[in-house]
Amino acid sequence: MTIDLAVVPVAGRGTRLLPLTKSQPKEMLPVGRKPVVQYVVEELAACGMKRILFVTGPGKTAIENHFDIDAELITHLRENGKEEYLAQLSFERADVEYFYVRQRRQLGLGHAVLCARRFVNGNSFVVALGDSILGLNERSRVVEVMIERFTATAAAAVINFEEVPREEIGDYGVALPKQENAEVFELLDIVEKPDPARAPSNLAVAGRYVFSPVIFDALAETPPGKGGEIQLTDAIRRLIRDGRKVIGVRMPPGEKRYDIGHFESYFRAVVEFAFADPQYGEKLRRYFGLNPHATVGR
Ligand code: G1P
Repeated sequence: MTIDLAVVPVAGRGTRLLPLTKSQPKEMLPVGRKPVVQYVVEELAACGMKRILFVTGPGKTAIENHFDIDAELITHLRENGKEEYLAQLSFERADVEYFYVRQRRQLGLGHAVLCARRFVNGNSFVVALGDSILGLNERSRVVEVMIERFTATAAAAVINFEEVPREEIGDYGVALPKQENAEVFELLDIVEKPDPARAPSNLAVAGRYVFSPVIFDALAETPPGKGGEIQLTDAIRRLIRDGRKVIGVRMPPGEKRYDIGHFESYFRAVVEFAFADPQYGEKLRRYFGLNPHATVGR
């Protein structure tokens, strides 16, 4: 089975990053030399995605503009002897088609994914959250591995998990795995943003999913949950309760997720990507009194 369609929800308001996100999408915030969402798209393209459907909302047109081919800018750079900058626009030519659907009401992540139903049209597909970067410099192969698992196990869903400290677990969807400590496990249950004291494990949903289209039926039946929003996690829970196979994969060592949803993890990403910059990283580490030759990121 070839899966070449990814749905990228980018409709969230970014409330946890105010005032930064008052008039710009959090997915367009700079990390290193690129906006967050460009890393996501490059990662997906490298994992074989040919069609990317953004689920957008108010104030998100900067994302559409970013992925357009800007002929005027290209001509301007050529005519003004700034050809060296042209390479920075090569992502515009990626072998990917972009599509956009609006989430017309802010009813949560689950509802955003449900907005993709018509477009997905009965196919299996990837969901990649537009505010999570995997790996440093779009090198992550997590989605590729997830698709392999999805195909091999005929699962209804494969979900990427990352172990996080107990005090942070309440910010995430959390797995109850059948096999503890396994790299790949079946899910017995999944809970959205549990009270840390009651969380079923330290395994947090880490921004990437592969779904069979049955998720849409589950989403359509899912009532508002945490925060009054229709939660993707609750629809996955419904799949499990309906006896469908839902598989979790742990992010392998060497892979890392940068969550751009709140300031602490955003700052971490900004610093780490700056330190890893091929031109300025070494100088920057020296400037801050750090070992200039330390390996940064993973
Ligand atoms: C969403 C999901 C949550 C997941 C998280 C990070 O939460 O609802 O299950 O763990 O993304 O992938 P949000 O960060 O939008 O509140």
